[in-house]
Amino acid sequence: MTFQGDDYLLAGEAPVKEPARQAYYIAKLRRHARAFEEEHGRKPFGCVRTFGCQMNARDSEKFAGILREGGFILTEEAEADVVLMNTCTVRENAANRVFGRLGQLTGLKKKRPWMVVGICGCLAQEDGIADEIRTHYRVVNLVFGTHNLYKFAEYLDKCLSEHARVIEIEGDSKTIMEELPNERKYRFKAGVNIMFGCDNFCTYCIVPHVRGREKSRRPEDILDEVRRLAADGVTEVMLLGQNVNSYGKGLEEPITFAQLLRQVCEVEGIRRVRFMTSHPKDLSDELIQAMAECPKVCRQLHLPLQSGSSSLLKRMNRHYTKESYLALVERIRAAIPDISLSTDIIVGFPGETEEDFEETMDVVRRVRYDSAFTFLYSRRSGTPAADFPDQVSKEAAQPRFDRLLALVQEIAAEKNAARVGTVEEALVEEADAEREGYVTGRLSGNTMVHFPGDPAMIGTIVPVHLTESKGFYYMGEVASC
Ligand code: 5AD
Ligand code: SF4
Repeated sequence: MTFQGDDYLLAGEAPVKEPARQAYYIAKLRRHARAFEEEHGRKPFGCVRTFGCQMNARDSEKFAGILREGGFILTEEAEADVVLMNTCTVRENAANRVFGRLGQLTGLKKKRPWMVVGICGCLAQEDGIADEIRTHYRVVNLVFGTHNLYKFAEYLDKCLSEHARVIEIEGDSKTIMEELPNERKYRFKAGVNIMFGCDNFCTYCIVPHVRGREKSRRPEDILDEVRRLAADGVTEVMLLGQNVNSYGKGLEEPITFAQLLRQVCEVEGIRRVRFMTSHPKDLSDELIQAMAECPKVCRQLHLPLQSGSSSLLKRMNRHYTKESYLALVERIRAAIPDISLSTDIIVGFPGETEEDFEETMDVVRRVRYDSAFTFLYSRRSGTPAADFPDQVSKEAAQPRFDRLLALVQEIAAEKNAARVGTVEEALVEEADAEREGYVTGRLSGNTMVHFPGDPAMIGTIVPVHLTESKGFYYMGEVASC
């Protein structure tokens, strides 16, 4: 947009309707950016820091896009005039990391008093946190929650125009904003939200409390986005949602996730499709069949177990048992023998006994995951499990965690070693940060491989001979076809 275009846009009042309203505020940001440049002799710098999951990473791309369209140069925190921290609150240490960063930002703000420090996302939405920031963290001048992420430009304009502190966490999560600017981290792969929120209320989890009720995007909107991405050079998409298997609920025209997946695979130019996260209770045979039949669907499935004990699973409100989970894995492996399975496991959930923990170890031994994320249970206030009387002490949980991690790593290393000598396709993602003359690629099963190559290969899919396993990644060589 030209300056003259901005003048025209800004001559009237802010439109009431979206997305025109946000376009108006982005134009106002450009006006701030020009004024800043006149005063400081350089364009303003902006930085978005992401804590947490893939969905936060996706939202951050939108914030970065808004900043860039608003005339900011994207940079690192140390030199930024606007810093936005997109936060996570799933586990307590994620929240603590954010508060830790605030201390460092206080120092930076002394040097650049005009700095805007913003906090958004799940932590901001958690009960009581906005008030805590308001009273104890003066360094922060912008706070907004998960229900009004799309209004970032409007809030930032208010901070800059009125030198005001903006704290806005109310809002409904029903609005799904299409057409926001977007700054993709990679030019050849992209995350695509297919739904927001979660209705599952696992008893340990804060996500449904901070992200709100589940809401699916319309398939036309998703497919339009995928087509636009493909036209822009993207070859790999990751479909994102807290529970993609229940996609489609509440839409005018009923559609299942399996149907959506098939439609996404049909988009020309897209060569790889991934998705996450899958709740085992909703993973249908229809989806397994779609995965087996569509060669573009990556041979990777993330299937959070959380615990192998049926009684703990009940207390977690997970709606499956150890036996039904194992049966599901069997059906998946029968249909897609080369699938890589990964999982999430929580250790030390309230009431977990040694026997419960052994059930988890048993599932891990039987399923033999390719990789697993293991977490110590973190007590999140506001969730039912936080009030369960039989909390497990750190002293009891830590040795179990260590045993689980050792087992998970041992199995993952064995599984990776077994594929040495084979040739697999890798999407080249970047120049290897540690080895000169090497590039790093991602296999269909999601494991990384480093091999001699040129940065010109970035974004292409090449056959790689896996020559050596290093535990959770490979070394390789481009295979001649
Ligand atoms: N404590 C520990 N781990 C948790 N997770 C979610 N909530 C908690 C909690 N309170 C884990 C689950 C989930 C992953 C994203 O984070 O394993 O699948
Ligand atoms: Fe949290 Fe359970 Fe929803 Fe996942 S499915 S986001 S663990 S409540």
